[in-house]
Amino acid sequence: MGNSRRQVVQSLLVGGVGVAAGQTSSLARQTKPADVTVGGVEVFKKEFDSISFVYEGVNSLAVRIPAPREVNERMLELDKKIFLTAFTLTCMHQGCETNALNSDHVLVCPCHDSIYDADGTVIQGPTKKSLQALKLELRDGKLHAVGRVST
Ligand code: FES
Repeated sequence: MGNSRRQVVQSLLVGGVGVAAGQTSSLARQTKPADVTVGGVEVFKKEFDSISFVYEGVNSLAVRIPAPREVNERMLELDKKIFLTAFTLTCMHQGCETNALNSDHVLVCPCHDSIYDADGTVIQGPTKKSLQALKLELRDGKLHAVGRVST
């Protein structure tokens, strides 16, 4: 192998490693949950006020819920006993999108009538799982969805 040909081969090998390394760090970035700005908290003036947003390509909802008996990881408590929750609208039965919160403050799936409470917990099947909760954070007066709450 001539000197210039060897240099070309070495360059290709080094470039290949660079691409592979780049792909690895790209994959690592993809596993980090999205940080999505939901909106200003001033929207949540009363119970069941909500904001629709998209989290990682999925239609989602943030809702002010009534004061719960106990706070859990599905909720964010703000000052003055304001409790917020957020979840994706993908039904946990077979993946249809639930309808919006209705006047009874529940979400009904149009496909097979699963019903979820305003905090995304399942009330009636066929599904047995609550809607995928999203972790909320408050930064600079804005609400952010920063990941999925594992169940
Ligand atoms: S997909 Fe929602 S109840 Fe079946």
